[in-house]
Amino acid sequence: MKVKIHTLFQYLLETTEAEPEAVVGFSLAESPRLGDFLSDLDPDLPLDWNNRDFRGLPELRDHVLTNAGLAERCTQEDVLITAGAAEANYLAIMQTLQPGDEIVLETPGWPQAEVLTKAIGARITKITRREEDGWALPMGALADAVSSETRMIFLTNPNNPTGHLLTADEVDQIVDIARSAGAWLLIDEVYAGLEWAGPRTPSVAGVYERGITTGSVSKALGLQGLRTGWLICRDAELMSDALILRENASEIMNIMGEVIAEIALRPERYAPAMEKARCEGRRNLDAMSDWVAAQPGLEWVPPAAGLIGLARLPAGLDPDRLAKTLLAEPYRTFLLPGSAYGLPRHIRLGVGGGTGANLQKGLDRVAQALQDLSRHDR
Ligand SMILES: Cc1ncc(COP(=O)(O)O)c(C=O)c1O
Repeated sequence: MKVKIHTLFQYLLETTEAEPEAVVGFSLAESPRLGDFLSDLDPDLPLDWNNRDFRGLPELRDHVLTNAGLAERCTQEDVLITAGAAEANYLAIMQTLQPGDEIVLETPGWPQAEVLTKAIGARITKITRREEDGWALPMGALADAVSSETRMIFLTNPNNPTGHLLTADEVDQIVDIARSAGAWLLIDEVYAGLEWAGPRTPSVAGVYERGITTGSVSKALGLQGLRTGWLICRDAELMSDALILRENASEIMNIMGEVIAEIALRPERYAPAMEKARCEGRRNLDAMSDWVAAQPGLEWVPPAAGLIGLARLPAGLDPDRLAKTLLAEPYRTFLLPGSAYGLPRHIRLGVGGGTGANLQKGLDRVAQALQDLSRHDR
């Protein structure tokens, strides 16, 4: 089994040395600093992992369940702390899919599941979210795609990259579809907590016995560098399989990540941090919508949740050319072209990253590049 590179990661690798002065694409809220946590850190904390739980700090697992609204439905045993939502997805996919199995994926969507599925040699069936439907998940197509052959359905909610948000009713419908096929239903909710158009959607681990919820402290809390996330599922065998795979990769979570994440998720810190992320996100997204409206020929469906969404370029403008032009002088601005998601006419816009992203400067430069390129092409 060999894991091959995906266009999105290829693009990130190629552009890391470009040192942009502005980023119009971050998906995470402003990151706190280490100093914000020092007052609650114990200088005598042992940095070995003797006597640590392989599943993660028990109090951290409690916070995870409480914040996901799962405290009544799941127990600590149903939670594994992982190296981000990325590792949680990895463990679940690798331990459920066998060569020849079928997985149903959404497009556009987060590419990780597709990359891993191809490496495993499993079969992929895709269902397509369409811009004209506001990027909604096509329920009829999902029902048609899922059969007794389907081993897993993998979705992101809120969706990366469209920011579409499933309702509780839709999750129930998807659960019915998955249950009728006996399929695992993995819903990655790494962007949860940043909902603008409705309430937070119930986590699937609480509503389906084969439901798998993944998440992390990376996005709404901006703590991506801690590499701390979780896998939640009520199926004891899946949880044990995930633990075993992790033991054979990195063995156990890193203690500092767990300890700081536990502090960040304490109620007295979590509530104000989420309030701040939501206020800033809302304000920046409103500004982004105004900016998009002012650009001739640019259209977007504002995200119903999360900090990223897709904008369609005016006809004739190539997203890859725009992104590459933007990275160079005089613009020095990063954004992600739609080709990272198999979309030939879109760019991904994001309002995260806090003051370090220089969002307004970035938007001014994207506006300038759009003008320059369309003038040049005329
Ligand atoms: C949908 C989705 N899942 C998982 C990840 C990885 O997140 P983490 O930092 O928690 O590993 C990302 C990162 O952008 C993402 O967009």
